[in-house]
Amino acid sequence: MYKGIIRPLLFLMGPETVHQLVVALIKFFFAIPLVKQLVRAIYTTRDARLRREVFGLAFENPVGLAAGFDKNASFYRQFAAFGFSFVEVGTATPVGQPGNARPRSFRLPADKALINRMGFNNRGARAIAERLSKGRTNMIIGGNIGKNTSTPNELAVEDYADAFLALYDHVDYFVVNVSCPNISDLSHLQDREQLAGILSRLSTIRAGLVRKKPILVKISPDLNWGQIDDVLDLMEEFGMDGIVATNTTITREGLLTESEKVEKIGQGGLSGKPIRARSTEIIGYIYQKTAGKLPIIGVGGIMNPEDAVEKLTAGASLVQVYTGFVYEGPGLVKKINKALLRN
Ligand SMILES: Cc1cc2nc3c(=O)[nH]c(=O)nc-3n(C[C@H](O)[C@H](O)[C@H](O)COP(=O)(O)O)c2cc1C
Repeated sequence: MYKGIIRPLLFLMGPETVHQLVVALIKFFFAIPLVKQLVRAIYTTRDARLRREVFGLAFENPVGLAAGFDKNASFYRQFAAFGFSFVEVGTATPVGQPGNARPRSFRLPADKALINRMGFNNRGARAIAERLSKGRTNMIIGGNIGKNTSTPNELAVEDYADAFLALYDHVDYFVVNVSCPNISDLSHLQDREQLAGILSRLSTIRAGLVRKKPILVKISPDLNWGQIDDVLDLMEEFGMDGIVATNTTITREGLLTESEKVEKIGQGGLSGKPIRARSTEIIGYIYQKTAGKLPIIGVGGIMNPEDAVEKLTAGASLVQVYTGFVYEGPGLVKKINKALLRN
């Protein structure tokens, strides 16, 4: 029904409008008694064999909603009904910001892909913390943190520290996002010296707190092997708990969409099917390099259960979806979990 009826209707509108509309509809319908329970009964797969213990947290199943989908933690509780065991809210910056001018999100249906240059539009870490403090859920919550657009890279460490502290009591794990291609120069924070500064600061702050929460780093698929090695060294040096591989790419290679259309869209991060292979390659590389000791969340181009299995087989402990959820609809999570039970 999703691909035959709902998707064609939704795709008549721009991606950001659809996102807002779908969220509003879901909130509206889920407020009707028993609707959420019914959706949960349809979409959720409960089975002890799906459970995963990763960086000290117990996940009901290995499938999560990737960062950027529920940036402000405003509907993650409703989305739990679609079968996700975890959600990554954010990217949260210390101060709320509007992000880039619209339009800033584009569909490439021929490639089952999206290009976005949202630019960390979010209400700010404190507002997100406030929302999280009000909503109880069984889902595991990740807090994806970043710097404000106006903060220069030299001062970025303060922004990460600020967002980290604001969210600390409200999330189960953290993701340091240094790989978004839509904030000028942000990806340079993956450079050895800059990343060392951020991770050192966060690990020092964490050491002074009562409960130790896992900290992960989210990397770009555009890093070369040497750069990934540097990130891995730092992860070990500062006792980081895992890696999220990967974010969106700035490359445009091998697309089926006419190059004129792609050029017209302009800058932004490409996600979905075209990044699947590179993300998986990176996961495999990290798994080998760390002898499987560093937990990996695999994300990038998971459009069907086989893609999820591919990431898990390459070494991911958990997976996340974003673009696949847009193209394949809410049934994707259940399909992945069912496939895992068959494997
Ligand atoms: C519209 C959009 C917004 C995103 N916003 C964020 C974000 O705020 N922070 C982040 O770490 N990743 C963000 N991402 C990247 C996704 O979390 C994910 O890493 C990437 O899209 C690859 O997965 P996919 O191919 O399943 O979409 C965003 C992706 C999209 C499409």
